[in-house]
Amino acid sequence: MVEAKLNVDASKFDLPVVKATEGADGIVVSSLKNDGFVTLDPGFLTTAQCESKITFIDGQKSILRYRGYPIEQLCEQSDFLEVAWLLQHGELPTKVQYDQFCLDLNHRTMVGEDFRSFMASFPRSAQPMSVLASAINALAAFYPDTTDISDPEQLDESARIIMAKARTIVSYIYRRRRDEPMLYPDVARGYVDDFLRMCFAVPYEPYESDDLSIHALGRLLIIHADHEQNCSTSVVRIAGSAHANLYSAVAAGVNALSGPLHGGANEAVLKQLEVIRDSGESVGQFVEHAKDNGARISGFGHRVYKCHDPRAVVAKHYLEQLMARGDVDRRLPADERALFDIATELEDIATHDDYFVSRHLYPNVDFYTGLLYRVIGFDAPMFTPLFALGRIPGWIAQYREMLADPQTKIGRPRQVYTGQVERDYVPMDQR
Ligand code: CMC
Repeated sequence: MVEAKLNVDASKFDLPVVKATEGADGIVVSSLKNDGFVTLDPGFLTTAQCESKITFIDGQKSILRYRGYPIEQLCEQSDFLEVAWLLQHGELPTKVQYDQFCLDLNHRTMVGEDFRSFMASFPRSAQPMSVLASAINALAAFYPDTTDISDPEQLDESARIIMAKARTIVSYIYRRRRDEPMLYPDVARGYVDDFLRMCFAVPYEPYESDDLSIHALGRLLIIHADHEQNCSTSVVRIAGSAHANLYSAVAAGVNALSGPLHGGANEAVLKQLEVIRDSGESVGQFVEHAKDNGARISGFGHRVYKCHDPRAVVAKHYLEQLMARGDVDRRLPADERALFDIATELEDIATHDDYFVSRHLYPNVDFYTGLLYRVIGFDAPMFTPLFALGRIPGWIAQYREMLADPQTKIGRPRQVYTGQVERDYVPMDQR
C-alpha cells in the first residue's frame, strides 16, 4: 500500500493513501487525532470528506463527467430524467427501466389539496428559495411513512416523491408570486415540457410548447444535476450523516444553495448586468472600479474550475440560439436584450484582463444561466429555484451513496482552538 510520511517535530507518521481512479489521491489523516493533531483546512480546499463514484471534475482541463460520461455527451444525447437515473444508479437505464422511472415520477407529480393550502399560506412576496426549502422539508410531514431511511423501500419512495413533486412545487412558487392559479400536472407531457406549461400556461387558453425552450431548459437541468462535493452537497451529506431523512437533508441543501456565493450567483449576475446598463458607465469602467474596490464580479471564478467552466459553455450555446431566434423581440424588451450584449462584453474584457487571467477567473455556470432563464420567461427570483430543481438528483444520489458507504461517520469537523485558556469568572460589578 502507498503511504505518505509526515514529520511534526520529533513525531513521524505513516499515513495510508487512497488511490483515485482519476484526479487527486487521498492521504488518510484520521489516525492523527489519536496523536493529538488535527488537520486545519478552512473551506476544505484540500480536504476530501468521502470517496465517491458519482461525479468527476478536472478543473484544469474543463472536464465534468457524471458516472464517467462527459457532460457534453449527456447534453447532446440524453435527457434530464435519464441523467437523474444515471446519477442514482451508476449506469444508464434500459428502455424498460427508463419508462418505469418516468411512470413512477408521473404518478407522484401531483401534490394534495392540503399541501397546496400549505403552500398558499406563504406570503406571495416570500423569497422563493425559503418557500422551496420549507416545502421540501414539509414533504416529510405530509408523507411520514417514507421517512425511515433504514427501510430501503421508504428511502426509494422519498427519492421518487422529491424528484416528482419538486417541479410542481417550483411551478406553484412561480405562479403564486404572480397571483395566478396553480395548475395540475399533465402526465402526457415530458418532465420539462410540463414544468414549463405549469409555469406559463394561461388556464383558459391552449398551451403551445416551445421546443427550443424545452430543450434549453432540459440542458440547464442536466448541467446542474451534480457537481461533486460543493457547498450544498456537502451540507446534504453532513445532515444525512446524522441520519436526517432525505427530505430534511435535501431541504438543507436548498438552504445552502440560496447563498449568493453558491446558487444565488445567477440572480446576482443579472442584477450586476442591470447595474452596468443603468450606471451610464462603460463595461470597462465597471471592471476597473470593481478591481479598485476589491469587489467580486458575480459569475466569475470557481473553487474548482481554473479554466473554462464546461457548464458555462453549454449555457452560452443555448442562450445564443434563443437570442438569435426571430421572436426574441417579443420575448424580451429591448432594455433586457441589452444585458446580453453587456454580458458578452464583460466576458471579453475580463478574460483578457491580467487581474482575471492571473487568478484563473473565467465565467462560471451562473454567468449565462440567468440570462437564459430570463429568455425562457422566468424572472430573477426564480433562477436559484431552477438551479435547485436541476441539482435535486445529485443531492439524492450523494445522500444515498453516503448512506450506503460503510466508512460514513457522522460529519463532525474538528477545530484548532485559539481562544482564551482557562480563567475565572468575574462578577458583573467587578468588570
Ligand atoms: N471577481 C473578482 N475577483 C475574484 C472573483 C470574482 N468573481 N473570484 C475570486 N476573485 C479573486 C479573489 O479576490 C482572490 O484574489 P486575491 O488572490 O488577490 O486575494 C482570488 O481571486 C482567489 O479567490 P478565492 O476567494 O480564493 O476563490 P475561491 O475559490 O475561494 O472562491 C468563488 C470561489 C466562486 C466563491 C469566487 O470566485 C466568487 O466569489 N465568485 C463570485 C460569485 C459566483 O459567481 N459564485 C458562483 C460560483 S459557480 C456556482 C456554483 O457552483 O455554486
